[in-house]
Amino acid sequence: MVNMKIAFVGKGGSGKTTLSSLFIRHLAADGAPVVAVDADINQHLGAALGLDEAEAAALPAMGENLRLIKDYLRGGNPRIASAETMIKTTPPGEGSRLLRVCEDNPVYDACARPVELDGGTVRLMVTGSFTDADLGVACYHSKTGAVELCLNHLVDGPDEYVVVDMTAGSDSFASGMFTRFDMTFLVAEPTRKGVSVYRQYKEYARDFGVALRVVGNKVQGPDDLDFLRAEVGDDLLVTVGHSDWVRAMEKGRPPRFDRLEESNRLALRTLRAAADATYELRDPERYTKQMVHFHLKNAQSWGNERTGADLAAQVDPGFVLGGSVTAGA
Ligand SMILES: Nc1ncnc2c1ncn2[C@@H]1O[C@H](COP(=O)(O)OP(=O)(O)OP(=O)(O)O)[C@@H](O)[C@H]1O
Ligand SMILES: [Mg+2]
Repeated sequence: MVNMKIAFVGKGGSGKTTLSSLFIRHLAADGAPVVAVDADINQHLGAALGLDEAEAAALPAMGENLRLIKDYLRGGNPRIASAETMIKTTPPGEGSRLLRVCEDNPVYDACARPVELDGGTVRLMVTGSFTDADLGVACYHSKTGAVELCLNHLVDGPDEYVVVDMTAGSDSFASGMFTRFDMTFLVAEPTRKGVSVYRQYKEYARDFGVALRVVGNKVQGPDDLDFLRAEVGDDLLVTVGHSDWVRAMEKGRPPRFDRLEESNRLALRTLRAAADATYELRDPERYTKQMVHFHLKNAQSWGNERTGADLAAQVDPGFVLGGSVTAGA
């Protein structure tokens, strides 16, 4: 029985959205419940999952439902006085409401939409597209803050997956978002730029025990493979070549998913196996400690000042996410 939070990160254009969407399709085809989250600056996951322009444009933005998300999650937690004092790193505690992959709740009602894929239906949530103004205020108004809050309040059940398509931006390092996943797949093209994003990520990840594997993309031959092997060593999990299936999908004519090239299907199986294998490494106490660590850091660097409250007092010292469940719907 496995349940997982998985991120796809990497340089712009490396194939994060493409590989996220293929992985989501792969899980759905296997009948696994999936919540798919588009947390990238460029919102393309909906299209990659087959939505047309109008459908993608009609998706509700998490960033625009932040108030509802906060009010639902804080529930009756006495340590969180108001939605205004709840920042993206505010951890759950006794009285908080937790999210589950397989349930109906007001957050999904407001922010998630079903997407039908071959073999099953997934829930899709999108942060909403970013404006220049959003990028200027990196902390308080960060749109991925909504995703982070949800991840920090998510307890997963058996054989369920949350798959997040994400930028490898500095925002996710400052907030601690990069530590919220059981497995992080770094998508890298066989280029120096692709690999440099990997190095930077690895540097941040090292101190927090983040499970990080590289997925080579657009790998065309032995030269490409040699390059990636030389640059990332054992962190290289698998490589994906050019996919005609993906190309057809991008033309708006997606073939049935079972027509995906055999080599790419195998690559997806390898991704799932690698993600599933991290299951036994999960440590709810460490996970909770890390969210508290980043909360205190954000409280001190900007949160206390911004909210006028002592945000350290929001930490419930006895609470472990996914440990003894004291909070309920
Ligand atoms: N394996 C592949 N086979 C064929 N086309 C691919 C493959 N991987 C990516 N592409 C194409 O490359 C382009 C960029 O891929 P994608 O949008 O997935 O990258 P991204 O990392 O999500 O980019 P962004 O940073 O803009 O969000 C897309 O047109 C996509 O269809
Ligand atoms: Mg993308």
